[in-house]
Amino acid sequence: MSKETIGIAADHGGFFLKRAIAEEIEAAGYQVLDLGTDSEKSVDYPDYAEKLVRAISDGSVKKGVLVCGTGIGISIAANRHMGIRAALCYDKETAVLARQHNDANILCLGGRKTAESQARQLVALFLDTEFEGGRHERRVEKLG
Ligand code: RB5
Repeated sequence: MSKETIGIAADHGGFFLKRAIAEEIEAAGYQVLDLGTDSEKSVDYPDYAEKLVRAISDGSVKKGVLVCGTGIGISIAANRHMGIRAALCYDKETAVLARQHNDANILCLGGRKTAESQARQLVALFLDTEFEGGRHERRVEKLG
């Protein structure tokens, strides 16, 4: 059976953390679809949010991780699209609840706010945690 592929993208503020995240995702047994950016050269976070949104919309991946400096801009950009539930998480509990309660399909992180070791833990939890369904199903359906 082929491994699930996880999409990742970042702006220049998230470039370094994205590299560590790619390692973590591969170590957890997934394949990585890296949609850039590939350097510290300044780019615009909406463009990188859109790359991952497109990969989810066309079925290339089901889930992904986005990183900008704070995680705020890239989560706002991703959440403008139907069917996207992008959760900006700063700790383990929010990473778990984003999956259990919100069925988040994108984890957003702040490359200048979250330490690499913490980010690796949040990514692993996000990928390992299932949606609980039940009462949360109705709420998620209302999001569109
Ligand atoms: C880029 O300097 C920075 O504004 C961006 O990475 C992000 O933090 C925006 O929300």
